[in-house]
Amino acid sequence: MIGVFDSGLGGLTVLRALVDRFPDKSFLYLGDHANVPYGNRPSDEVIDLTRASTEALFSQGCKLVLLGCNTATAVAARHLQQNWLPQSKWRGHNVLGIVAPTVEAATQTPWAVSAPQYPQKYNTDVVGVFGTTRTIASGVYPEEIRKRCPRVTVVQQVCAGLAGAIEHEAPEAELERLVVEGVEGLLAQTNGLPPHRAILGCTHFPLVEHLFRRHLPPFTRILSQPEVVADSLEDYLARHAHYTAGDAGGSLTLLTTAANPADISARARVFWPEVAPFTLSAA
Ligand code: DGL
Repeated sequence: MIGVFDSGLGGLTVLRALVDRFPDKSFLYLGDHANVPYGNRPSDEVIDLTRASTEALFSQGCKLVLLGCNTATAVAARHLQQNWLPQSKWRGHNVLGIVAPTVEAATQTPWAVSAPQYPQKYNTDVVGVFGTTRTIASGVYPEEIRKRCPRVTVVQQVCAGLAGAIEHEAPEAELERLVVEGVEGLLAQTNGLPPHRAILGCTHFPLVEHLFRRHLPPFTRILSQPEVVADSLEDYLARHAHYTAGDAGGSLTLLTTAANPADISARARVFWPEVAPFTLSAA
């Protein structure tokens, strides 16, 4: 069983792509609705919350947990992988994030290659990154993209309040206003030059991809994280089949830390009409 974690409902965009891609695998999703949003929280809180949810998924039988959240990945993934996991009781388990596959797609360079190679070495494109305050402050996208493509210009833009507005079903006009504010903020940093590629660096944002599409020019390629992450997980599982060995397959369970799973289920169906109901996480 593969665990997928997000601070709230945004990770459902990733989960849905994974369920489509791996119909023979079982998934356990945990949304930390009691603490959403993570995007404005201090880093140490994001780390503690992400570790707690990862442990909850491990203790329910997941050997592999995917952080389906950019904020959690940007702030906590490296710490969990390098500092916490090796000393915890969960040796033999693993945590993956969603920044690495996104950087691979944005740079056309495998994650393991961390030095510029031809032709990426000479790539002078502009890449835009939209994210939460905490993801943007972490600087993880520019850092990892520039390692591989040093001449690429990476421009970052916080879309303040957008994840929360999506999570709480703000009206379309309000969502569009926040997207326009983000796009204009990004363009103000490039003298109006639109990016060649745009990373929607928050798993909530695919739900308003049509609004980004409307306000970015047609030549800007929007990188869709759910697809990119599904591609990457397919490759990972082909090399690490033991994480899902013995999986009877095909089950999907959704857990929430919120005391009102029925409300969460109702909101989730707005994003994914056929999604199974949420139940309260015991951990
Ligand atoms: N969905 C999360 C992300 O990808 C963040 C939303 C939040 O702020 O909790 O960044």
